Amino acid sequence: MPTQKQFDRTLVTSALPYANGHIHLGHIAGSYLPPDIYVRYKRLRGARVLFVGGSDEYGVPITLSALKEGVTPTEIIDRYHAANEKAFADIGISYDIYGRTSWPLHIETTQAFFRKLYEKGHIEKQVMRLWYSEQSDRFLPDRYVKGTCPKCGYTDASGDECENCGAQYASEDLVAPRANIPGDTSPPVLRDSAHWFLLLQDFAERIKAWLDEHPEWRPNVRGIAYGWVSDLRARCITRDTDWGVPIPLDDPDTKNKRLYVWFDNVIGYVTNTRKWSETALGDPDEWKRWWKNPSSRLIHFMGKDNVPFHAVIFPAMLIGQEDYVLADNVVANEYLNVYNRELGKSEKGSKSRGNMISVKWIVSKLPADVVRYYLCANAPETRDASFDWDELIARYNGELCDVVGNFVHRCLTMAVKNFDHKVPNHGPLDDDDKAMLEFLPQQVDSVADAIENFRFRLAIERYIETGRRANQYFDTKAPWVTRKTDIERTATTLYVCCQVVRTLCTLSAPFLPGGAEKLAGILNIALPKNGPAGGPDAWEDAKREFPAGTPINDPVVLFPKLDKDIIADLADQHARGEAF
Ligand code: MF3
Ligand code: ZN
Repeated sequence: MPTQKQFDRTLVTSALPYANGHIHLGHIAGSYLPPDIYVRYKRLRGARVLFVGGSDEYGVPITLSALKEGVTPTEIIDRYHAANEKAFADIGISYDIYGRTSWPLHIETTQAFFRKLYEKGHIEKQVMRLWYSEQSDRFLPDRYVKGTCPKCGYTDASGDECENCGAQYASEDLVAPRANIPGDTSPPVLRDSAHWFLLLQDFAERIKAWLDEHPEWRPNVRGIAYGWVSDLRARCITRDTDWGVPIPLDDPDTKNKRLYVWFDNVIGYVTNTRKWSETALGDPDEWKRWWKNPSSRLIHFMGKDNVPFHAVIFPAMLIGQEDYVLADNVVANEYLNVYNRELGKSEKGSKSRGNMISVKWIVSKLPADVVRYYLCANAPETRDASFDWDELIARYNGELCDVVGNFVHRCLTMAVKNFDHKVPNHGPLDDDDKAMLEFLPQQVDSVADAIENFRFRLAIERYIETGRRANQYFDTKAPWVTRKTDIERTATTLYVCCQVVRTLCTLSAPFLPGGAEKLAGILNIALPKNGPAGGPDAWEDAKREFPAGTPINDPVVLFPKLDKDIIADLADQHARGEAF
């Protein structure tokens, strides 16, 4: 049962990708396309909705990349921030702001969060035993140290957690540690280091109560969140590094230490909203209407590995601030694997396997709509999905082109040729006409319902279903036959078909912005680009009549069919590891 709370605005966040590499299709399917569909839909509805994203630019992932490339962290983040911002734009992820955690404003926001928690006694200093490299003369936080997992024996486990079995342990329990720094061969030693801990257990009751209010969340998210809440402990929120937000305390122990990236990055959502307030709106207080307003509905989107941070740790940090809203939903997806045709099975996408497909590469080869269609129709919502070129071409050509594109083209070509580039007038409606016309508003509502419930795969299926139903109607009515004998009957058929086409245009807009834009141009309708201030409800408009007499331009192909040989060639490039 979804919450019955009344909201007057929606703040949507998508996980901030580390700016140390190109974003790939796994990212898009899991964390970015779903919120984009959601906000595009909300904007069409005329709702007040703000979509915040950005780069995650601190932490060990960034400094390790810099170390391995022999460049500065700044060079890494500048390069990948720019590349990823462009990749998102090219695939149509329609952020209101794409920010950076390296912005000076982010230091201010993050330190204010820390101070508040500290003043209220939710942060405590403790001395830990951590691995230190004498050769590199530094501590080895997180992935700077590798070794054998004390639980499962995996030999590439990092500092305090194992990527293989998910175990978390004290650093000193790591077996056979080695420094993960090129050229560093000295055996790490244990040294004392003072750090600051967030007392997550202080928030257990509140978080539990909040989770209990949200039985409507996806089971994957609830499962992970309840698992964490049953065992909340103090969590280290500082690291031995010089790359991060400075710890805002007057304490000599803060020397050479920074806040942990998983403390600052989630606050990036707030920073970026603040930045948007200042730059886009020129109102430095506007962000509070999104973050400190009980009528604001906060929704986080992410991949499954990010759930604890968004469903437990960040909420604890927000509760500690006192006046922030908590998320009304936390939407996480499973993973997009990659089909390996040589092995005849799917495998995890990974850098070392070279099987990942970057957004940068694919948008240089295919229209964004193709990728968006396939990733949405095959979304890893309730279980892992797999990227497979054969399936991509089969589904795109067979569903989007053959069902929707083909119907739209047949209808518009006839209307333009036989009815003077206009939506024809209709005569008496028969049962087929009425059934078709009644089906449309139902579909408008059922697609909306699926999107509102974050079931994007179902939503796009219902859009295609609308096209299928329309093809049946068209074939039953055979206007190309009646044209020679009964022009009034033909006019009525095409009037009905034009209603369908207009509905398909609106329904496609959240998913397939390229095709929707082209079709709106042909139909001479405006799909309003409402911004965060809201506006007219164009979605509801799709249920009203598309009036006879509306001028229609010559149709163009909305969704160009993919050529088998071209896709085979792309699949070859991918198999050779050239798709990144
Ligand atoms: N950079 C993290 C990752 O790629 C995600 C951070 S989400 C944030 O897993 F909100 F915390 F920034
Ligand atoms: Zn392990």
